[in-house]
Amino acid sequence: MIENTPISPRRRVLSGMRPTGKLHLGNYMGALYNWVKLQHEYECYFFIADWHALTTDYADPSLVQQNIREVALDFLAAGLDPALCTIFVQSHVHQHAELNLLFGMFTPLGWLERVPTYKDQQEQLREKDLNTYGFLGYPLLQSADILLYRPQFVPVGQDQVAHVELTREVARRFNQLYASRSTPALEHAHSDKERLAAEISQNAVAEELLPEPKVLLTPSPKLPGTDGRKMSKSYGNTILLSDPEPDIRAKLKTMVTDPARVRRTDPGNPEICPVFDLHKVFSSEEVQQKAAEGCRTAGIGCIQCKSWVADAIVGALTPIQERRRYFEAHPEEVDAILNDGAARASNSAAQTMLPVLKAVGLR
Ligand code: TRP
Ligand code: SF4
Repeated sequence: MIENTPISPRRRVLSGMRPTGKLHLGNYMGALYNWVKLQHEYECYFFIADWHALTTDYADPSLVQQNIREVALDFLAAGLDPALCTIFVQSHVHQHAELNLLFGMFTPLGWLERVPTYKDQQEQLREKDLNTYGFLGYPLLQSADILLYRPQFVPVGQDQVAHVELTREVARRFNQLYASRSTPALEHAHSDKERLAAEISQNAVAEELLPEPKVLLTPSPKLPGTDGRKMSKSYGNTILLSDPEPDIRAKLKTMVTDPARVRRTDPGNPEICPVFDLHKVFSSEEVQQKAAEGCRTAGIGCIQCKSWVADAIVGALTPIQERRRYFEAHPEEVDAILNDGAARASNSAAQTMLPVLKAVGLR
């Protein structure tokens, strides 16, 4: 393929996910589903952000290792393919921490205090003491995650756009501060001709040192949980990618519907029903039509309607669960994939770190 030739390398994409445990349909539709498609088109790096987990769970890290495992299994189950993309654990690649430390030298505190997620999250997680240096630095670590691989694109949801915006500011500040430092080639140039050549090559390198990445906004369909609110682990309303079929069906049976449809004979309105939001994501056009029509005319009951959406979700999850079972039975293969991923990522990270360390005078 032409895109794979060195002349026109595949454009690079990077994204990460915190290890929150077994992933749910919201995590899948909001990120993974999209990543699986991107791996065919881009050179992709996808990682599990275990350092980021520690920014909020430092007081009780007992579940971190287990959660990393579950997320790795869900990545592979969902169809991330180590032959097509690089999958790794953030802390296995030490340059993330190193670049984060460097960025801390020149990032004004005000930039971090102004990131909207900072105060929001502190308020939402009030049971934890998040008045820490590490938590303030959460988006700066994310900037290091990203710029370390010099990707063109960062696929994230709307909630992460401010973090990529900060990343762009950090890159700009780095490039401004260090782009014009003299290089040994320039210092040791003996003739005007050598000097000119060194200047040209230095500018070319300096401008490319930490290019500003762009957000690749993940289209995120409305995906309510069983209580009708946004599906989220903290609400306890999730359907997991790894839930067995009977659990999926049982969870859907108790899912909230159009509250006006009290009796079987009352017509309902699919446009305000959270079950129908799931139909829109998972069911075929025909089933959606049939369900909407049956709802509006009271031709079907909610039990029937929910069983159709359960069929669609079970159908989507069956191949995912088959792959999960395979990797659960072959833990050494998962380890090998993560080790190989860390080696590949380290290699790529080292290519950024050497000129970066040189630019700041540490080499
Ligand atoms: N902060 C992201 C989230 O909560 C996870 C993350 C960490 C990330 N580092 C990243 C996402 C780098 C994209 C790129 O979802
Ligand atoms: Fe919702 Fe379906 Fe019941 Fe209509 S029939 S209220 S769409 S669950």
